[in-house]
Amino acid sequence: MQPVSIVPTVSVVDAMRAADETITVGDKSPYISRWVIRRVSGVQVALHKTDRSDDDRARHDHVGWNISIVLRGGYWEHLSDGVVKWRGPGSIIFRRATTLHRLELPLKNGEYQTSWSLWIRGPFRKSKRREWGFMTKEHGWLRSDIYLDMYGPAPNSKRKKQASRSGKVVFQPPM
Ligand SMILES: [Fe+2]
Repeated sequence: MQPVSIVPTVSVVDAMRAADETITVGDKSPYISRWVIRRVSGVQVALHKTDRSDDDRARHDHVGWNISIVLRGGYWEHLSDGVVKWRGPGSIIFRRATTLHRLELPLKNGEYQTSWSLWIRGPFRKSKRREWGFMTKEHGWLRSDIYLDMYGPAPNSKRKKQASRSGKVVFQPPM
């Protein structure tokens, strides 16, 4: 496994604008930063910068089908039945909304190795949005808010909203 990139640099993104949303952990260090590129008929296309592994207590699912295209870095994806796959740059991953998974970033000298992905998430009706959640050993699948009430946030995670380029506050579920 050699974390390499299929894009020469992402510095242009850094210089472009602040992320639309950043989820941080207790010490304010970033977990996921999201730049929304397009929203078309409810489909969201975004750039994701992932700086930490997902909550390793349980796998989660999403509000809609989703596709990840790994651009730089990469991660281990933990799927059902103990299957773990390396997703390196160039990987294209198709998931149903109900696909349970969690991402684990590689460590180097005790530091997470940042990963960049293009994220495409399928549409959902706001009034009939599919709830996303976590699969627990003790209680089976739990809606995200119930899971977080019962188990607490993954170590002190904290959502930070940021104004988007249009001035609106963008809020989407974390995945
Ligand atoms: Fe996810």
